[in-house]
Amino acid sequence: MDFFELIKYRRSIRKYYDKQIKRSDLEKIIAAGLYAPNAGGGQRTIICALHNRDLCRKIGKLNVAKFDRRNLSGTYVSSEQPSIIDDPAIKNGFYSAPTVCAIFGPKNFLYSIADAFCCAENIVLAATELGLSSCIIARGGNFQ
Ligand SMILES: Cc1cc2nc3c(=O)[nH]c(=O)nc-3n(C[C@H](O)[C@H](O)[C@H](O)COP(=O)(O)O)c2cc1C
Repeated sequence: MDFFELIKYRRSIRKYYDKQIKRSDLEKIIAAGLYAPNAGGGQRTIICALHNRDLCRKIGKLNVAKFDRRNLSGTYVSSEQPSIIDDPAIKNGFYSAPTVCAIFGPKNFLYSIADAFCCAENIVLAATELGLSSCIIARGGNFQ
């Protein structure tokens, strides 16, 4: 797909087939993430991929367990692809995705979060190019 079409085509998907992705595709996605621009060329970002549906489900449930809904009044994300904000019945913060790429950076580095989201953007674009659905999840730090 043309790159500019790909950017428009990519959407956050929160409903997944009950099928695992190929390891070769996962490796391409991780490589794309690691080629993202990063502060000072420091390459501090670490991607930890969970290529196991049961493990993703277990950690996805932990991700939701401490989700605080109290400040959410009036927010709305998607009716077609409801998020945890839209549907309190969703108990898996990773929406049953069979694979999750967790992105880590140094705790006290000023640009860790910026680096992480540059990495995440490369990951979701690479997934789209491979015909795979994806969604960036920002609540990973909630179960520290
Ligand atoms: C920084 C950031 C954090 C996000 N965190 C979440 C999240 O925790 N849960 C979720 O379901 N979607 C999350 N998203 C996905 C957004 O909800 C989504 O990108 C937005 O609604 C626009 O929809 P689109 O991606 O389909 O264009 C996040 C996106 C970004 C860029």
